[in-house]
Amino acid sequence: MNATIKLENEKHFPVLLDKLISIISPLYGGTFIDCTFGQGGYSKKILENKHNSIIAIDRDIKSLEISKHFEKTYKKRFKFINQKFSQVNNLELNKSILKGIIFDLGYSINQIKDSEKGLSFLHKGKLNMKMGFNKISAHDVINSFDQSSINKILYTFGDEKKSKYIAKKIINFRKLKHIETQDLVGIIDSVYKNKFKKIHNSTKVFQALRIFVNKEISELINGLISSFKLIPKGGIIAVVTFHSIEDKIVKYFFHHYSQNKNSSRYLPQKEIKNILFNLPFKKALLPDKQEVIKNPPSRSAKLRYAFKINEHHNFSDFKKKFKYLLDVENIKLFYEKNYCHSANYFFNTIYNIY
Ligand SMILES: C[S@@+](CC[C@H](N)C(=O)[O-])C[C@H]1O[C@@H](n2cnc3c(N)ncnc32)[C@H](O)[C@@H]1O
Repeated sequence: MNATIKLENEKHFPVLLDKLISIISPLYGGTFIDCTFGQGGYSKKILENKHNSIIAIDRDIKSLEISKHFEKTYKKRFKFINQKFSQVNNLELNKSILKGIIFDLGYSINQIKDSEKGLSFLHKGKLNMKMGFNKISAHDVINSFDQSSINKILYTFGDEKKSKYIAKKIINFRKLKHIETQDLVGIIDSVYKNKFKKIHNSTKVFQALRIFVNKEISELINGLISSFKLIPKGGIIAVVTFHSIEDKIVKYFFHHYSQNKNSSRYLPQKEIKNILFNLPFKKALLPDKQEVIKNPPSRSAKLRYAFKINEHHNFSDFKKKFKYLLDVENIKLFYEKNYCHSANYFFNTIYNIY
């Protein structure tokens, strides 16, 4: 038996909202960029102070509907842009009034419940997982990528220890028919032989596919760099993460370029030009017990933040550090002879993405 949740009854609660509000101090007024508008939970709280404005971004077109209510209520203090946050530094705005840029990574429960999106292993529908501005879906990955690429994706982004066996079974299964959500769940269960696990057998595979399809690693790395370029000195960047890969990237970004002294006094101190952030709190802030009881998905959330204190930097060492993840995200397609889609569709896909 697996631990599962009943999605129908779940509601979206903004995670770590009080802690986020206390660190970005919106009381003093200013403009904030909410890079992950979602259901608007963070934006709404910040807009409670009439001296604040929000520029909200979300890659999911469904956020546009929610943003319309905000535009009506808050008028000139609110603007929504449907785009990916990796391009946040392309926004045309008066940078000097910008106080903070916030990210609440991952997806809302409404998106997980949305059967069209096919994010959940509990749904019976199509494998999809495209959240907006993607070229390929999870269906494309599972039904057309070669065995070694599928193995790499599942292992790297899901830490799925049985990735090799699952990839092999996927290749065999799809000789018979296209694989959809419940076929994939069945394949994974057959590898685990329904042994009891604390989490659902499919959790890691679905996480890996979602990260790959939405290029979440390059989005986060480029989103952090773009935010740094956009925010003026003194401004804050705050990020809520939900899994260890995301947290590792955010932690490295803030710590590597911050004033924190090196762990050993025998190591050379960082050059002053490389100190880009003031990091008031070295550890991540976590939800308290009460929040986890009220909103169980918050249990894996971590909030990290830093204030920008210097301009200009080349972030090549940041990208180099996570090259092993970026390489898997950019894995080349290998055309499988047995794949049933037309060659035209496939070659178009290849040329559009790579
Ligand atoms: C956890 S939800 C945010 C919830 C929001 N803080 C609230 O209180 O309602 C994350 C949102 O970020 C969006 N998102 C994820 N990755 C994104 C990206 N790379 N660019 C833009 N939006 C993204 C998702 O579509 C989703 O709506």
